[in-house]
Amino acid sequence: MFGNLSALPADPILGLLAKYRTDSNPNKIDLGVGVYKDESGVTPILDCVKAAEKFRLDSEDTKVYIGPTGSPLFNDEMSKLIFSEHKVLEQNRARTVSTPGGTGALRVGAEFLASCKPGATIWVSDPTWANHTGLFQAAGLIVKTYPYYDYENKSLKFEEMMSTLASVGRDDIVLLHACCHNPSGMDLNQEQWQKVVALTKENGFTPFIDMAYQGFGDGLDEDAYGVRLMADNVEEMVLASSCSKNFGLYRERIGACTIIGKDTVTTEIANSVLLKVVRCIYSMPPAHGAAIVETILSSDELRQQWFDELAVMRNRINGNRQLLVDNLKAQGVNRDFSFINTQKGMFSFLGITPEQVQLLMDDYSIYMVGSSRMSIAGIADSNVEYLAKSIAKVL
Ligand code: LMR
Repeated sequence: MFGNLSALPADPILGLLAKYRTDSNPNKIDLGVGVYKDESGVTPILDCVKAAEKFRLDSEDTKVYIGPTGSPLFNDEMSKLIFSEHKVLEQNRARTVSTPGGTGALRVGAEFLASCKPGATIWVSDPTWANHTGLFQAAGLIVKTYPYYDYENKSLKFEEMMSTLASVGRDDIVLLHACCHNPSGMDLNQEQWQKVVALTKENGFTPFIDMAYQGFGDGLDEDAYGVRLMADNVEEMVLASSCSKNFGLYRERIGACTIIGKDTVTTEIANSVLLKVVRCIYSMPPAHGAAIVETILSSDELRQQWFDELAVMRNRINGNRQLLVDNLKAQGVNRDFSFINTQKGMFSFLGITPEQVQLLMDDYSIYMVGSSRMSIAGIADSNVEYLAKSIAKVL
């Protein structure tokens, strides 16, 4: 049976991590996988997480099965974080399940949508997160793209995006990034969200929003603008969210999939299908990450501590953007890289060729995805000069 298989290349993002770890160059820089790093290159465990884990260690009293929905308190707190005091919560039209990470949420959401309409088409931005396509295809959806990032002008192809989406109809799904677009860092502004939402309503396609970075762009509420506006205006939508980045819980694998239906009755029916999807993939989600998040979000003190720690991560990433732009200038680079400072979240494209990306890796031990996507959190005061110098050399 196994003899029929051909070897697949390493994952374009995760493969870099393995290479970086075995590189012995003391100057190596990891701008590959999207994880937050502090000034010393460490991905720290947040203090609020440590406190919540301590509380859990003392208070947990059973390891019995949790059920396909996961923890009701986590689901409730996550819905409030995402939607705030939104009418979909008041109207009892949202159902959330805890999932193994944001990827689990995307897969559950995709399988749910495939149950609604087998073989449906999902439209994703060009470009999008490298794993979206494979993940949606694995769920049986057909993947098509809409124009999004203009590599030439480092801007959004908004008009082209809208004219492609204008031809998308009721039976299709459109995937949108809530904030901190991965890989481009190029987000829709509020006015553009309003236009996308109006088109969604008019054409009737189903919005599927991926919110992997709430709080990493402008703030928790600001980053949820598009999600809340969409929920205000459409009858049905699906949302995948992640606690990997904003709570720093990467390896705990905790995220959430939320469905919104047009009324309580149809939402309840849809929820039964969602739970069946979960049961048939992994039966029930892991509990530990959810317990940490619900402990933080339901305590005034820990919640405030998390807001503060999240702001530190967000501000450091934003500061790194400016730092790189300044250092490139200081190295006498003529090309205009100021766009890096206007983009949001963990990533930006540096805008160099795949050959130059390869040179940076081979000759300077600087690791980024072949598309020149950089994980901005890997930049630090201590390495930015070397980084800018190396970029200047390969240009
Ligand atoms: C990334 O895009 O680097 C992150 O979302 C991590 C991943 O799983 O790819």
